Amino acid sequence: MKSKIIIARPIFEATLARLREHFEVTDNQADTPWTKASWTQALSQHVGALTTGSDPVDAEVLKACPNLKAVANMAVGYNNFDVPAMTAHGVQASNTPDVLTETTADFGFALLMATARRITESEHYLRRGEWTQWRYDMFAGAEVHGSTIGILGMGRIGQGIARRAAHGFGMKVIYHNRSRLSAESEAECKATYVSKEELLKTADHVMLVVPYSAASHHTIGAAELAQMKPTATLINIARGGIVDDAALAVALREKQIAAAGLDVFEGEPKVHPDLLTVPNVVLTPHIASASIPTRMAMANLAADNLISYFTQGKSLTPLNT
Ligand code: DGY
Repeated sequence: MKSKIIIARPIFEATLARLREHFEVTDNQADTPWTKASWTQALSQHVGALTTGSDPVDAEVLKACPNLKAVANMAVGYNNFDVPAMTAHGVQASNTPDVLTETTADFGFALLMATARRITESEHYLRRGEWTQWRYDMFAGAEVHGSTIGILGMGRIGQGIARRAAHGFGMKVIYHNRSRLSAESEAECKATYVSKEELLKTADHVMLVVPYSAASHHTIGAAELAQMKPTATLINIARGGIVDDAALAVALREKQIAAAGLDVFEGEPKVHPDLLTVPNVVLTPHIASASIPTRMAMANLAADNLISYFTQGKSLTPLNT
């Protein structure tokens, strides 16, 4: 008899077909939204699950799921999981590292370029039919090449951003991280380790790539925004909650910083209403890893994690043992 698994959200048909070869699958190709209660109830009927970063697997959910054995997150971030609680319940947790690193770094750079060079703001102006003539200062933005990028969080994606910045755009790269990179990695990224304070004070572009946890909640709030240059841009491709969005909206409106580019939001898919009304922010709906090949690779790795757990006893990229 096949084990019963649930796929929380719509997924590629090919991944679904592959999983059906191994499991009795409950899918959600209809994209029916979950409440926490309906998700918990559905999950409790299964031994395995393929989740996204929006589907909680915490102590409360686990309490209702005594038969659950493995949950594969189709994301590298896993702040929707309570990994210690999963371990205590004997549930194997896994994520999808590596396969999205370069694509996400590409997007971080796209958002930086769009923000610094005011691409969406100027496109909206053009579409509104307001463009009547060339002007010397029309949508003049910040320089990217040759400027200083400050990367907060120097994991795999942070290093991908650093390589693009240093080697592609001749930028000076400074970074802050819980631990310093090896001398070899610093040389490869041409990156200099600095304190968070120095980074905020000196960077022309601040790129956030830190994982979310209680410790990183509001890493950037009013006090940190006040430390940044008035000409600086802030890019968040990490997680909502790393930035205090209400404080950021004030800083943008009052031009304490020049502009921001945000792919992630506190309480997403809701977006702080004040962010929707300031012009100097580029907003995208959590799509940093969304190239078709990368999303396929993420789906396949998550599927392989479940198949591997139920056939070999261990996921390929586990977060616990
Ligand atoms: C990730 O992989 O963590 C991305 O943010 C997609 O959820």
